[in-house]
Amino acid sequence: MTTKNIFVLPGDGIGPEVVAPALEVLQKVASKTGFDVSISEGLVGGVAIDATGSPLPEETVAQAKQADAVLLGGVGGPQWDHLSTDKRPEKGLLGLRSELGLFANLRPALAFGPLAQASSLKPELVANLDILIVRELTGGIYFGEPRGIETRAGQRVGFNTLVYSEQEIERIARVGFELAQKRNGRLCSVDKANVLEVSQLWREVVTSVHGDYQDVELSHMYVDNAAMQLVRTPKQFDVLVTGNMFGDILSDVAAMLTGSLGMLPSASLAASGVGLYEPVHGTAPDITGKGIANPLATILSVAMMCRYSLDQAAAADAIEVAVSACLQDGYRTEDIRGHSKDQVVGTQAMADLVMEKL
Ligand code: IPM
Ligand code: MG
Repeated sequence: MTTKNIFVLPGDGIGPEVVAPALEVLQKVASKTGFDVSISEGLVGGVAIDATGSPLPEETVAQAKQADAVLLGGVGGPQWDHLSTDKRPEKGLLGLRSELGLFANLRPALAFGPLAQASSLKPELVANLDILIVRELTGGIYFGEPRGIETRAGQRVGFNTLVYSEQEIERIARVGFELAQKRNGRLCSVDKANVLEVSQLWREVVTSVHGDYQDVELSHMYVDNAAMQLVRTPKQFDVLVTGNMFGDILSDVAAMLTGSLGMLPSASLAASGVGLYEPVHGTAPDITGKGIANPLATILSVAMMCRYSLDQAAAADAIEVAVSACLQDGYRTEDIRGHSKDQVVGTQAMADLVMEKL
């Protein structure tokens, strides 16, 4: 039997609470579909700062590079908010993305039928919504230089740089086109080309890459309009491709369409090498330790891991079907409760239900 090495970074806040049951689901699906998993654990984010002084210890990067896939919970929390940008927990995650070359971030927003009521939009606008945001993850304003805060003419100014090279644009565009080919054949590239030169180049490069993917219908949209269209008629989209910061913002919007940020998985992929999987929701300090966090985003991230890094498509399908069945049966965590007849369950109970369905 093949053994897959999974490197786990529970991180901060609810991270450990959602990662543990998601790993149980992985073990269960592996034994059902016929592969072995070997799990090792490391430190990133606030817990890494507390233990080693660094949000991303060198050992963590080395171990991640050896693994078949990395599963991450979340990083950050109020107790580390006073630290400077380069010492904060978030720096651990950003460093990991960069060190592992994880330039393509896939954030599917899938509205499970039974959850249409939990969305802040009218159920008919979101029922069966299935869109995919492809976010560039290792460039743009998150990493651009120069950056900093300095004193100019007697007052402090803060500055960052939004920079993309043709090569960076081209490789993320290809990911977008290829995924659109496998889905409904439509790609919308999101930029701010009416104001920013970097976006003009973005649009030009995406348009020229389109030549290699004639079967995909390409459109362009300004980011402000895209934010509006996402809450107006979200089902008009199939795949969206965009830069790092626009993708950060739009993926939170898209997440909420599905009912809860607690439902959204993500995959971060490199040109070759290890992939990283994490829930989009973050560390939720307000509910940490209460046992009520929704484990489904992490469980669905494990499904993405099976599909994109472990070559176990059957396992991925099985997890997604099981999650769907639990929702169909009316089980809900606190964040997605809608009707009074919903059966509200905690983190572990929800994971146990998913495992029963497997
Ligand atoms: C995300 C998060 C991160 C980001 C933070 C935690 C650095 O918001 O993954 O969307 O901004 O990329
Ligand atoms: Mg974000």
